[in-house]
Amino acid sequence: MTWARRAVPAVAAAVAALAARDLIQRDHALLRNFPVLGRARYLLETIGPELRQYIVAGNNEERPFTRDQRRWVYASAKQENNYFGFGTDNDIEYTPGYPIIKHRTFGRAVPPSSPAAGHDVRLPCAKVLGAARGRARAFRPESVVNISGMSFGSLSGNAITALNKGAALAGCLQNTGEGGLSPYHRNGGELVFQLGTAYFGCRDEHGRFSLDRLKDLVAGAPVKALEIKLSQGAKPSLGGLLPGAKVSAEIAATRGVPAGEDCVSPSRHAEFSDSDSLLDWVELLAAETGLPVGIKSAVGDLGFWQELATLMRDTGRGVDFVTIDGGEGGTGAAPLIFTDSVSLPFQQGFSRVYKIFAEHDLHEQVVFVGAGKLGLPDNAIVAFALGCDLVNVGREAMLAIGCIQAQKCHTDTCPTGVATQNAWLAGGLDPASKAVRAANYLRTLRRDLIRVAEACGVEHPGLIGTDAVEILDGRTGSTPLHEVYGYRPDWGLPSPADRAEIIRLMVPEAPQGGTAPPSATAVG
Ligand SMILES: Cc1cc2nc3c(=O)[nH]c(=O)nc-3n(C[C@H](O)[C@H](O)[C@H](O)COP(=O)(O)O)c2cc1C
Ligand code: SF4
Repeated sequence: MTWARRAVPAVAAAVAALAARDLIQRDHALLRNFPVLGRARYLLETIGPELRQYIVAGNNEERPFTRDQRRWVYASAKQENNYFGFGTDNDIEYTPGYPIIKHRTFGRAVPPSSPAAGHDVRLPCAKVLGAARGRARAFRPESVVNISGMSFGSLSGNAITALNKGAALAGCLQNTGEGGLSPYHRNGGELVFQLGTAYFGCRDEHGRFSLDRLKDLVAGAPVKALEIKLSQGAKPSLGGLLPGAKVSAEIAATRGVPAGEDCVSPSRHAEFSDSDSLLDWVELLAAETGLPVGIKSAVGDLGFWQELATLMRDTGRGVDFVTIDGGEGGTGAAPLIFTDSVSLPFQQGFSRVYKIFAEHDLHEQVVFVGAGKLGLPDNAIVAFALGCDLVNVGREAMLAIGCIQAQKCHTDTCPTGVATQNAWLAGGLDPASKAVRAANYLRTLRRDLIRVAEACGVEHPGLIGTDAVEILDGRTGSTPLHEVYGYRPDWGLPSPADRAEIIRLMVPEAPQGGTAPPSATAVG
């Protein structure tokens, strides 16, 4: 057995060397947290397609994000080849609800020729946020894709840093989520500050909202807008509780609560109690800070929206933006019945709210933001066609910085350091390299959106109308999007003036060329 005596130390040395390498590298949080063992996941990812032919689930079976969708995000984030070979493996014709985007043969916008063209495309919002209501600090968001609210507390400090730096690199906004504005949010990325029911970050020692603290906060950070959170698609009408064990000194300081004690978010706001008082509060915040102010909500009963739109039309007060979160949206933790069954899915909820605003002739004055798996190009295009001006990405951005969809966000044992306060696990996530990945993903999504817009003959995804999308019925028929959701023909688009301006901003001064050079006999 001499060979065994020689082999065992050699294997042990090789494993030790591999472990050391895994610990030192910064690209993969999973390997830093689980040296050697974590490699099994990468091996399975590599040979997965072949293995799955014989044993496990297909490319489109896993949820919330299918394997294909995750592969697209991962490859985009790493700037690897994110193309798919051989053609679709979706059962297009026989899947009810499948959206089809209709390209145009001769469109106004001509896609540029180079495959790399548009990778770093500028894709600003087609509306100026806050302009319709004359807010002092109205601005045009630089990116139609932005990072959705996910609090420090729910996500680790390193994850927030990676997303904030990624937002800065990609030129987009990061929403703070309701957990306050932490030091990790101060890495160069511009912010939307979210006000939840506990007013974390802008509350006094008794837990009451403090306007002075809010003004100090926004004066000392790159906050571009305020978002009042009414509800979240995954858990509408519920408050929240961060157990005392997770309330570290850092979280306590960010939120303005005592360390080590349970941190409760009530289910309702104390500053307003109906649509009328909500609008008063919106106007107060806008007047005192100069910032555009919006609301974020999931959609259930429509009474609130009817009342809000009527009050906006009749009283002149109003929100600058409305963020609609779909029932399929994510959360750090929520009861199953809420994640599965309470509040409408994005397309249904959004279209109902949009229609109410359009019927009150307010749709061109409000910036509409969508969330709920809209970090995937096909979903995002349908959202733009329905009238979204911006999309927020939450879990897709988490995937870009390393999340493997282990779905343990509620247990504080996230293996990739994204959704945990465990210092050891969070330490595996290298914010610098993951920031680049987040930015790569955001840029790739923007590039795909502009490519599809150009295929549809328009210069910007916000100009894609409902006539460009049909929904298949799973048998042999399909219905245009406007019929599915009862839209009038001109709904879903910005005002004529906003359309003209975004076309001016999007069309390059020097044409990029979408054809081969014309021959001498070319006729048009
Ligand atoms: C870990 C996690 C934390 C979240 N925290 C908040 C929050 O603080 N405030 C909020 O409005 N939404 C929160 N959300 C919801 C997201 O902002 C987003 O609306 C939802 O996940 C849908 O987008 P997605 O499908 O791209 O993830 C959270 C979601 C996740 C996954
Ligand atoms: S626990 Fe799983 S799903 Fe949640 S962030 Fe971590 S890797 Fe992603």
